[in-house]
Amino acid sequence: MRGVVLAGGLGTRLDPITRIINKHLLPVYDKPMIYYPIRTLVNAGIEDIMIVTGGRDAGDFLRLLGNGREFGLKHLDYTYQEGEGGIAEALGLTRHFSRGGKLCVILGDNIIQGNVVSAVRAFARQDRGARILLKQVPDPGRYGVPTFSGPEIGEIEEKPAVPASSYAVTGIYMFDETVFEKIDRLERSDRGELEITDVNNQYIREGTMRWDVLDGWWTDAGTVDGLLRASQLVADTGANNL
Ligand code: DAU
Repeated sequence: MRGVVLAGGLGTRLDPITRIINKHLLPVYDKPMIYYPIRTLVNAGIEDIMIVTGGRDAGDFLRLLGNGREFGLKHLDYTYQEGEGGIAEALGLTRHFSRGGKLCVILGDNIIQGNVVSAVRAFARQDRGARILLKQVPDPGRYGVPTFSGPEIGEIEEKPAVPASSYAVTGIYMFDETVFEKIDRLERSDRGELEITDVNNQYIREGTMRWDVLDGWWTDAGTVDGLLRASQLVADTGANNL
């Protein structure tokens, strides 16, 4: 399975910090943010990784990460997203890299304590469809939130005013090769983006979405509070063996 780290977008929620530095290069405790999602993929046994970057200073990723040797990789692939058209738009840029196989995708600001290897192995055995990781949170309205009908997810709502459950859809997604035709069918949301939640809902409607609950802590470091929390959690307990 190939891996993708999505590190495009402009990071406006962290303005003014992100005016002159890409969000994913900001420090989380003692490492640049992007080290953590890369390590999450590597720890799950994924060796072929593409980074989707964007913004003004995309060359900084190459200077920082080079060929990925520091992570034990033979090389890293890169591509560039113009503007901030959404997570699904950024993922659409990896079609060629995927070579018609399954992908494990992680958002560049998602940091976890543990390991996703068991979910990745389960997805490798899954004959088709998608797999997501959920986590119970105190503030689900900030995220994609699943509604349940029995043990199955009925739908995912993006940042609902009244969340239907206390679970967040974390930014770790596994997709089969049909993800790209699903992205092609998307229309822009009210915030002008191609939404990953709309991709996930297509898998749910065709009955091929599976889910697991993520072990250990999870944080999205894309807000001022999230960034602080991420550094504190890494300092207190470590993450990803980094
Ligand atoms: O963190 C989990 C949440 O991430 C999910 O629960 C939501 O369903 C999902 O929509 C997403 O929500 P956010 O609003 O937090 O996403 P954000 O716009 O902050 O983007 C998260 C990362 O995705 C960002 O660090 C880089 C990547 N991204 C984002 C956009 C908008 C791109 O690569 N390109 C983009 O155009």
